Amino acid sequence: MKKRILTVIGARPQIIKAAALSRAVRTARSARGVPFSELVEEKILHTGQHYDDNMSGSFFAELGVPEPDYNLHVGSGPHGLQTAKMIEGIEQVLQAEHFDGLLLYGDTNSTLAGAVAAAKLRIPVFHVEAGLRSYNMSMPEEQNRIVCDHLSTVLFAPTRTAVENLRREGLTDSPARFADGQGRRVVLSGDVMYDNSMYFSSLAQQRSTIMRDLQLQDRGFVLATIHRDNNTDSAPRLTAIISAMLTIANEHQMPIVFPMHPRTRKMLEVNLSTELREQLLQSPLIHIIPPASFFDIIELERHAAVVLTDSGGVQKEAFFFVTPTVILRPETEWVEIVEAGAGLLADADMARILSAFEKLNGQNVVFPHLFGDAHASELILEQILS
Ligand code: UD1
Repeated sequence: MKKRILTVIGARPQIIKAAALSRAVRTARSARGVPFSELVEEKILHTGQHYDDNMSGSFFAELGVPEPDYNLHVGSGPHGLQTAKMIEGIEQVLQAEHFDGLLLYGDTNSTLAGAVAAAKLRIPVFHVEAGLRSYNMSMPEEQNRIVCDHLSTVLFAPTRTAVENLRREGLTDSPARFADGQGRRVVLSGDVMYDNSMYFSSLAQQRSTIMRDLQLQDRGFVLATIHRDNNTDSAPRLTAIISAMLTIANEHQMPIVFPMHPRTRKMLEVNLSTELREQLLQSPLIHIIPPASFFDIIELERHAAVVLTDSGGVQKEAFFFVTPTVILRPETEWVEIVEAGAGLLADADMARILSAFEKLNGQNVVFPHLFGDAHASELILEQILS
């Protein structure tokens, strides 16, 4: 009998991550010699956390992810309310149909909701991207990932550091037992985002026209993304980041491509002085564009001289495409990137951002092999089947 898995997604990066495993279910062969499609049936539930077409819908077609079987249409809202609506909706689906496990990605409110709903119903939780820690308890993502890891049956850690973090929390050798009597399992799986970036790399090169459309030169521009609430919702932090971007653009006469998350767009109106906002919006060197498609963003990551970002995913994809990153946060979960010198932590501090940019721009930076063999999805499926 096929194992029935419910995958829960909700935010943009989860659609991207889920693409790798969904593709393996549909097209890869298991070590048992039969296609995974004969062993696993995957259904997809979209919580509706992200709902704009350029934050959600467009990724399904581009990455070949099957349309969700369920959509809760939860939308935006305060964290408690948003998460509560998701738990309620996921619970109803899990009660109406039998599933052998729930597959979750990352650290969003959708991840948290899935873990709580399934654990209460004693359905095994498989957490992909387990063990990441910033140790910054004020981040909603840190809260979500800790709860999710502790409720999960199998933890798929992308890196050695993630395994070590789980060990420190007692999760690699824990006396905890789940409903079936089994203990928790921690698996070093590699990174499903690396699977995707490698799989779509040449397709993105063929299909994306962003480099031409914006008349960009290879390694001749900066890619910037900001979406974390501690950056967008704080006037001093947003001001420091935008001022640093304008200084880099003007001093180096370097274009900056700035795909804009909906929250950032709203908060520019609230948290920037009129003068700074006008400078940003009127600068001929700053290209503000809507949230980019996956193919466009990986082309931008591949060709940028330096990436400025507060996103974990963008940080990592830039690394896959050997582009250094100035990290607009006080800390990162992807500590290997900083240890390798391919990323520098600059927080939202103008002087640190400018100095980090100078250290990385045009310099010889090392990109060691850290994120697996681009077949994490198959490994994860084998583990789920076992
Ligand atoms: C969420 C995740 C974050 C992840 C990010 C990726 C949580 C706590 N955070 O943050 O970990 O890195 O997704 O993008 O789950 N909005 C729209 N249209 C949309 C979606 C959102 O306009 O389709 C606006 C709304 O004003 C909303 C705000 O963006 O209130 C924030 O959206 P939300 O899903 O709460 O968090 P993200 O910042 O996207």
